[in-house]
Amino acid sequence: MAIESESGLPIEPVYGPGALRDWDPARQLGEPGAYPFTRGVYPTMYTGRPWTMRQYAGFGTAAESNARYRDLIAHGTAGLSVAFDLPTQMGHDSDAPIAHGEVGKVGVAVDSVEDMRVLFDGIPLDRVSTSMTINAPAAVLLLLYQLVAEEQGVPAGRLTGTVQNDVLKEYIARGTYIFPPKPSLRLVADTFRYCRAELPRWNTISISGYHMAEAGASPAQEIAFTLADGVEYVRTALAACMDVDDFAPRLSFFFVARTTLLEEVAKFRAARRIWARLMRQEFGARDPKSLMLRFHTQTAGVQLTAQQPEVNLVRVAVQALAAVLGGTQSLHTNSFDEAIALPTDKSARLALRTQQVLAHETDVTATVDPFAGSYAVESLTDDLERAALELMEKVEELGGAVAAIEHGFQKGEIERNAYRIAQETDGGRRVVVGVNRFALAEEEPYEPLRVDPEIEAQQSARLARLRAARDQEAVDAALAALRTAARGDANVLYPMKQALAARATVGEVCGALREVWGAYEPSEVF
Ligand code: 3HC
Repeated sequence: MAIESESGLPIEPVYGPGALRDWDPARQLGEPGAYPFTRGVYPTMYTGRPWTMRQYAGFGTAAESNARYRDLIAHGTAGLSVAFDLPTQMGHDSDAPIAHGEVGKVGVAVDSVEDMRVLFDGIPLDRVSTSMTINAPAAVLLLLYQLVAEEQGVPAGRLTGTVQNDVLKEYIARGTYIFPPKPSLRLVADTFRYCRAELPRWNTISISGYHMAEAGASPAQEIAFTLADGVEYVRTALAACMDVDDFAPRLSFFFVARTTLLEEVAKFRAARRIWARLMRQEFGARDPKSLMLRFHTQTAGVQLTAQQPEVNLVRVAVQALAAVLGGTQSLHTNSFDEAIALPTDKSARLALRTQQVLAHETDVTATVDPFAGSYAVESLTDDLERAALELMEKVEELGGAVAAIEHGFQKGEIERNAYRIAQETDGGRRVVVGVNRFALAEEEPYEPLRVDPEIEAQQSARLARLRAARDQEAVDAALAALRTAARGDANVLYPMKQALAARATVGEVCGALREVWGAYEPSEVF
């Protein structure tokens, strides 16, 4: 009797040769590092070098986060991944009334180039690749990073990293949008063009399914809605008169890794094949790098439990293994205590050690795509591909990702799936070890990490000093030039960089754009 996968697909108790009767390895698989990239984006994958161990971190002041980054680098992490607090993500300064209570809470507070300099103090920006989880104001934080690199004497062409810059998924899940879709997509296109000209090794966007998955999306919904967002960004860049091979090689993606390992491996393999065929067949991309779906993975935060938190170490290890067997380029492993509070130094280190055990003690890096040819995983890969393509077709019928968002389609589909998961959990049909089965009568106490309550006062004082010391006329002139560019067609990142260099703040730059573009008001569609 088959069971249902997370995507509602059958998982047979036994697969045999018949499962792959019509399966053509030449068409469905290809070689590793070759079209359609089912087996992975590089010919050698981890046999050449392991994935990037990139632990998402950031809290409190720039100095506190800088200390955590140095700690992670000292323990062997290869790439940085910056978490910003909500005021920064929403384009508000730490001393804005709306920021009260959120400064430095879910990430680091960055108000200006001064904070960005402290954040990367002592970290050579030509030697690390830095991901920044920033969406609506992605261009602002990218330029602050470039300004600090210039101060370090690092040429722009040497900078490597990624800005998430995926505002469409913010309208669907997560919610850190600022401007309406149209100007937001214009800013994404400006960023693509700016990076093509000034930062050629920078990944311009991380098209994300993670947050939709965390909101309840199934694996099929996760890849379908993410790739549909990707199609919208490609069309936006083409409409801005860019050639597909000028920007597609620097698109990247971001998915979740769930505990359901077999379906997750199939999900990653199906996503690579869908994207490669789409980019070649629909958009005529010719550069092989335009066809490669390179992605980052984070283990599923929503599957962590506050009860018996140490059990999460096992969940994260299985989820990380799924990402590795699925061919991820970069990986964040959640800390076991994240369902309770911010990770402590020890729990953050344990999360990194989980990746290091996989990379250095197991044999999963010895061969590329070990599930290739598997009756079960190849069947699941084909089934997931079909399910995702059907959902992408529905998005297309609604007029594409933005139109579907305005219909509330993706949000509605995800919420229905989230409700199903909740019902199965509450009914005990979906086992959560330590929660609805194998629970303890008395939970053991756990002392979480706390953020300094003085953070808000500290940041406000820093802003007051910055505003007192800067050339206010230069700032006003630069912000006026930014508003002029926002009203016209000129690339806004050039006047934006001038304003930031003159010590304009994140809130002031985003405020200038809000004045011209307005702020997004969600259309509640039930
Ligand atoms: N063979 C040949 N070359 C290889 C190779 C191999 N086996 N492995 C790596 N390389 C090369 C690559 O070609 C690349 O060179 P290039 O830059 O000149 O092209 C270089 O080595 C680095 O390799 P990757 O690009 O594969 O790895 P990176 O780690 O640098 O980049 C990425 C990975 C997915 C492309 C990039 O976009 C990235 O790092 N993304 C991270 C996104 C991230 O961290 N997001 C965090 C989100 S947290 C969040 O959203 C909030 C919370 O709510 C969840």
